[in-house]
Amino acid sequence: MRYPIRLRVNGDLYELSVDPRWSLLDMVRNHIGLRGVHRGCDSGDCGACTVLLDGRPVAACLVLAVDADGATVTTIEGLAQGNTPHPIQQAFVTHGAIQCGFCTPGMIMAVAALLAEHPHPTEAQVRGGLAGNLCRCTGYAKIVEAVLSVALSTDSGNG
Ligand code: FES
Ligand code: FES
Repeated sequence: MRYPIRLRVNGDLYELSVDPRWSLLDMVRNHIGLRGVHRGCDSGDCGACTVLLDGRPVAACLVLAVDADGATVTTIEGLAQGNTPHPIQQAFVTHGAIQCGFCTPGMIMAVAALLAEHPHPTEAQVRGGLAGNLCRCTGYAKIVEAVLSVALSTDSGNG
């Protein structure tokens, strides 16, 4: 049994016939082909699969694809403007916040959501906003540094 759904992913409209057992992660990774959405734990613990669902960060492995009917989804592939990386992506590179890179797409999506809500977060807010995203390589210090640098480089809002 398949169910028809329509959703917008990174600005493109998709009309798909989905198995009710598919997660949003299964759908975007395996059926839309967005391999930047990583599968780590597949149980909501690591944050590697984080995407924005109607602007809110979610673990795509915990959302059923059928429940994304009518939604707007943004993945890491939707952040850059052509060949120009998003400021968060650039900050991660500049500050050495990437090692193996497995956590990075989900981490950056969580940061995007955090900065949308708090354009000038405190370090505690950054660490809190990233609490659901695990990184086994960096020790988090450079990630936090990168996020704070993006916040400093913008001049709107008060967090
Ligand atoms: S793969 Fe979804 S939270 Fe780990
Ligand atoms: S850079 Fe390797 S898991 Fe974060």
